[in-house]
Amino acid sequence: MSDKKNVLSCIQPTGDMHLGNYFGAVKNWVDLQENYNCYYGVVDYHAMTMPYDPKKLRNNTWELIYNLIAVGIEPKNLFIQSLIPEHAELCWIFNCYCSYGHLSRMTQFKDKSQQSKSSGKEDFISAGLLDYPVLQAADILMYHADFVPVGKDQEQHLELSRAIAQRFNNQVGKEYFVLPETLFTETPKIKSTADPSRKMSKSAGEKHYISIFSEEARIRKQVRSAVTDLGEPEAGKMSEGVENLFTLLRASGNMSDHDNLMTEYNKGALKYVELKDAVGETLVNLTNTFKEKKAEITADKREIKYQIKQSSEEIRKIAQNTLKEVKDLTGLLNVKF
Ligand code: AMP
Ligand code: TRP
Repeated sequence: MSDKKNVLSCIQPTGDMHLGNYFGAVKNWVDLQENYNCYYGVVDYHAMTMPYDPKKLRNNTWELIYNLIAVGIEPKNLFIQSLIPEHAELCWIFNCYCSYGHLSRMTQFKDKSQQSKSSGKEDFISAGLLDYPVLQAADILMYHADFVPVGKDQEQHLELSRAIAQRFNNQVGKEYFVLPETLFTETPKIKSTADPSRKMSKSAGEKHYISIFSEEARIRKQVRSAVTDLGEPEAGKMSEGVENLFTLLRASGNMSDHDNLMTEYNKGALKYVELKDAVGETLVNLTNTFKEKKAEITADKREIKYQIKQSSEEIRKIAQNTLKEVKDLTGLLNVKF
């Protein structure tokens, strides 16, 4: 075993990867690879918790794998959750170390079940949606993760993972699971440009996220139509929309435009169109490099699929070992006895 600490994080294959995912989490994933043992999962079991289309799920899973590699994740660090069924098994065991009350109080469960009710479609809230954070705890604790790089919206889920780890450790009388800590980027909450009072998110609808891999023209257009002032901003306070545009510049590393435009803002002379053009240009430059890399790697999709199956198999060995130890500790039987 190396002395390196463990990092784990995951993302759901529910559609495009957007700037919130990238600047809030995935950018960190890329950087952490240098100094940590990293495990990054595409969590398809999680994507089943809301109504979905099976064919799309499989395509989205592979598409997300290509996207993650294109932004700089090494294939050896990637796994697909359903290729490691131990995640579902550990989730079951953790269900017995987590209270129903705690789960029903989770913000994401409340939001998403509300969303189902108000969508006008079938009013169906799956038990999987309630159980979602327990599966997430299984993802994290399975690999004894010390750090979990995620966006701000995942804080509550991390607390639940720690509560499960603690209860488990207490019950078995051993500090078996590491209590994982969250790692945030400097921009842990990117807002929707169409409505800066809410986070950028796939589930809110197309105009509420900017996909990293969409057409140049679309990115520019979405930034151009960003909401800057929602009503009258409080005196002396930057509006959420303008702040979000500055955040995007900072997150992309374009500090020279950021600082110049901020000076203009402080003088009260900032023209929003200049800010928007700078953000649009910066994002287009950044995303073009990802698109080039994606075109390169997807020239041989079979090779990537092969690599990911291999890496999932390698990573699965750790999961199998954890399950063996957990079964020993909890009184369950292992196949070899
Ligand atoms: P998801 O697409 O919901 O699976 O999220 C994948 C990762 O992106 C998680 O770590 C989230 O916390 C992060 N994330 C999603 N939306 C945002 C956002 N608007 N700002 C910052 N981080 C985000
Ligand atoms: N719930 C996370 C999200 O929506 C995705 C996720 C599943 C995750 N398992 C995880 C994130 C484990 C970090 C660690 O973004």
